[in-house]
Amino acid sequence: MPELANRLAGLSEDKRRLLEHLLSQEGRSSAKARTGGALVAPSRPSATTSGSGPQTSGVEESAGSVEVKANYQRFYDAVNGQLDASVFGPFSFFLNYGYVPDLGPQHSAIQLPDHFVNKNSVRLMLEVIGNFDLRDRRILDVGCGRGGMVFVVKQFFAARTIQGVDLSPNAIAFCRANHRYDNVRFDEGDAERLPFEDAQFDVVTNVESSHSYPNLDVFYAEVFRVLVPGGGFLYTDVMPMEAIPGYLASLKKVGFTMEVERDITTNVLLSCDEVSRTRVGAFDAGNDPDLMHNFLAAPGSQVYDDMQARRWSYRIYRFRKPAKAGTPAD
Ligand SMILES: C[S@@+](CC[C@H](N)C(=O)[O-])C[C@H]1O[C@@H](n2cnc3c(N)ncnc32)[C@H](O)[C@@H]1O
Repeated sequence: MPELANRLAGLSEDKRRLLEHLLSQEGRSSAKARTGGALVAPSRPSATTSGSGPQTSGVEESAGSVEVKANYQRFYDAVNGQLDASVFGPFSFFLNYGYVPDLGPQHSAIQLPDHFVNKNSVRLMLEVIGNFDLRDRRILDVGCGRGGMVFVVKQFFAARTIQGVDLSPNAIAFCRANHRYDNVRFDEGDAERLPFEDAQFDVVTNVESSHSYPNLDVFYAEVFRVLVPGGGFLYTDVMPMEAIPGYLASLKKVGFTMEVERDITTNVLLSCDEVSRTRVGAFDAGNDPDLMHNFLAAPGSQVYDDMQARRWSYRIYRFRKPAKAGTPAD
């Protein structure tokens, strides 16, 4: 639900106040106790999109960027708190809109049974992975949320190790308690300052999270840094249409070669049609219905309309770090 944070940043003042009200009500759930107070709606700085100028992970961040991340952290801590307090909590591994196949070509190598739990969200992950060979790979999932990608990789692929990283301590606590495997690890961390040495991973995945990052140039450079030569970056998110050329230019400048580009907006909208209304039930009953519909991209919400009008586009990308410095990826 990137839209959640993303879209909230663009909400009018009254809607933002409603949002604060939404997750901060006295005694409404244990979320408040865990997160320590009201959610503050995240606000995006002008530098949110790529092209904001060079900044490396070694350079001190602007105060605006620090504040934006703090707001997102509080926000997702509250979201996780509400889920944890609900009966759905233990089964809620995913925080994305999901994917429903249409008549176009599908890329998932796995055929899911009709009644697979969280089928649409699992399918989104499988479409992002496509035919990329994950066997014996060291995988990093940035913005792992509640461990959905880790669950999918463990379920369907024989990866060597899987590392999840997320800004939200509540998300990481949930992952550590609910995805216990010898070759899986979760850590708190910032996508723009990945807490790993260079060239530690064969694959980096990133699902519906990057819209929250103040500086995508830095994020892309970080992904490139932690990948081995020849490594793959499997990436999906909802993006403002007019910003996409800048994102692609930034990825190319960092050194990536693009191998896959797909517009899956139709598939995501089909998923929102199917599941967004029922997902409301996983959150506090007293939440403002309009806010929840926007958060979940229910039909008729602003987020849904922006995707339907293609002002925003939901994309899948696969990039490759060249096998040798200065040479095209193989
Ligand atoms: C919409 S959720 C998606 C979670 C997961 N990828 C999924 O598909 O279920 C976005 C996640 O990105 C995380 N996030 C936001 N900003 C981040 C940052 N700067 N670094 C790492 N994670 C971040 C949030 O805490 C949240 O868990």
